[in-house]
Amino acid sequence: MKKPMRILSGIQPSGILHIGNYFGMMRPAIALQDEGEALYFIADYHALTSLRDPIALRENSRRVALDFLACGLNPDKAALFLQSDVPQVTELAWILSTVTPVSRLELAHSYKDKVARGAAAAAGLFTYPVLMAADILIYDSDIVPVGKDQKQHIEITRDIAARINETFGSARKGPILKLPEPRIQKQTEVVPGIDGQKMSKSYGNTIDIFGDEKETRKRVMSIVTDSTLVEAPKNPDASTIMQLYGLVASKDEVQEMREQFRKGGRGYGDFKKQLFEKLWDYFAPMRKRRDEILRDKNYIDDVLERGARRANAIAHEVMKRVRAAVGL
Ligand code: ADP
Ligand code: TRP
Repeated sequence: MKKPMRILSGIQPSGILHIGNYFGMMRPAIALQDEGEALYFIADYHALTSLRDPIALRENSRRVALDFLACGLNPDKAALFLQSDVPQVTELAWILSTVTPVSRLELAHSYKDKVARGAAAAAGLFTYPVLMAADILIYDSDIVPVGKDQKQHIEITRDIAARINETFGSARKGPILKLPEPRIQKQTEVVPGIDGQKMSKSYGNTIDIFGDEKETRKRVMSIVTDSTLVEAPKNPDASTIMQLYGLVASKDEVQEMREQFRKGGRGYGDFKKQLFEKLWDYFAPMRKRRDEILRDKNYIDDVLERGARRANAIAHEVMKRVRAAVGL
């Protein structure tokens, strides 16, 4: 029998989840839970590269778990766990680092961007992609659903796996590590924020998935637009409002708004109100589910514990193979 495809992804608990995270990573990951064996984790080791508040880290991690479950992650199908509940990833990261060229890490955009924006050039930030490679390789992952900004990290992962296979593999025993494929959804690869740049918690331009109504409305109403007058025709292709509306409205509704843009006679404020209503309705069932989960005190801990058990069982097998191959 063919082995089911293994799907893996992670998200850092470094802040509050926004709709860029949802459409770029969470929704595709949730859809994939029906297509294979899915493993999703909360990257708390990675978050330590930017968050140095233990209480906030613990709270954010639980909150990400809650939000992921509220958005439709089904723990009977997909394992959800904390990265740090599988400490063997740090062992694998060490082994991987021994074959990773420094020059390869020096080319990573995310390190350069973060340091350019003022982050301290810590070794952990520099070797972030090696730990991420370990996260992926320790589960023999086939597919990694992520947003476009993570593509380079998956390329580095493939490169490191190939190096391990070349260095320690043999024709007789076959490869040691499996090379994963990124799964990046074209339509949602970069969700724009309220300023039109990529939505990101580090740019302060987010619309949160579970923000309160007043705040969410305020965020939507502050989407940056040009100064075209109410009566004048507007370009739907250059509009953040249209792009976000396209994520939550039906095809016909999108078509209709596009026509209204072209015709003129309606102001941006009006379009933003319409976007807000759609967005608010889109996430209504998830808000309801979230309230239900919150009523069951042990639910999140139970899910994370079950997920960690599953993840550890796989990681244990792969590490046995790696340790044997490298001589430990
Ligand atoms: P942030 O940029 O807000 O810090 P993360 O780096 O924690 O977000 O991203 C978590 C996941 O969400 C990743 O898979 C990432 O590719 C995806 N993602 C984040 N922002 C966006 C966006 N604006 N559009 C599409 N995907 C995104
Ligand atoms: N670097 C990812 C991000 O910032 C999070 C992450 C850590 C991840 N390890 C992973 C994503 C492994 C996919 C697979 O979004």
